[in-house]
Amino acid sequence: MKPVSTQPESNGTPEHVAIIMDGNRRWAEARGLPRAAGHAQGAEAVRRTVKAARQLGIRYLTLYGFSLENWKRPAREIADLMGLLRLYLRKEIDELHREGVRIRFIGDRSLLEPDIVSLIEVSEVKTEANTKLDLVVALSYGSRQEITNAVRKLVSDVVAGDVDADSIDEHMLEAHLYTSDMPDPALIVRTSGEKRISNFLLWQSAYSEFIFTDVLWPDFSRENLEESIEQFGRRERRYGATNA
Ligand code: IPE
Ligand code: IPE
Ligand code: MG
Repeated sequence: MKPVSTQPESNGTPEHVAIIMDGNRRWAEARGLPRAAGHAQGAEAVRRTVKAARQLGIRYLTLYGFSLENWKRPAREIADLMGLLRLYLRKEIDELHREGVRIRFIGDRSLLEPDIVSLIEVSEVKTEANTKLDLVVALSYGSRQEITNAVRKLVSDVVAGDVDADSIDEHMLEAHLYTSDMPDPALIVRTSGEKRISNFLLWQSAYSEFIFTDVLWPDFSRENLEESIEQFGRRERRYGATNA
């Protein structure tokens, strides 16, 4: 069953922050550098942000790293991104583990190279018991596909006679999402000035607060994260109710 947030509805540090890390290529383009350089700096921003999240007491940090739609990019660029992921997993896991970070991946693993799947599995198992910060990486992830798969599982339970169709409620659908054991993100930040959600956590963001910043992902800093949290603290979350 999905945990209910124990944190106040506003003011404090959000328990779960999700970030749509966007703008790597524009960062490189602005400097006359190859795209790969933008993605490499993006990986540095990931390191900085994970550290800052841990220090700021964020309990769950979800980073959108690669969407299902991103498979449509040129093979060379995909290879560069996967290369950076390999490097990150090989170089960072020991330190993340020492710092109490649990790493987990959400998305369609069947599309990933087998060696990446192994690296992911090893890092998940190694850090499973850590409780300081859950670093959730959305990789080969698409929210519509996640919801569609959940529906498919529910339908097969109904066909098998294990579930009565009339008994299906939102919690039963939620139980089949990758995020079934995490609170919903209170805050979703998107960098690079784009104001869209690009197939990210559609179900889970029903009551998220959104912050769009013009900062390109490779430039994203601890200060930017702190500012986002401050802005979040000034929002009034009503969940459809009145506060009169
Ligand atoms: C984000 O930066 C990284 C991924 C989506 C993989 P982009 O590569 O989308 O860079 P822009 O948005 O085109 O500048
Ligand atoms: C969204 O960024 C996906 C990730 C950040 C991983 P994109 O750059 O792929 O999204 P669009 O194409 O601008 O919507
Ligand atoms: Mg982009």
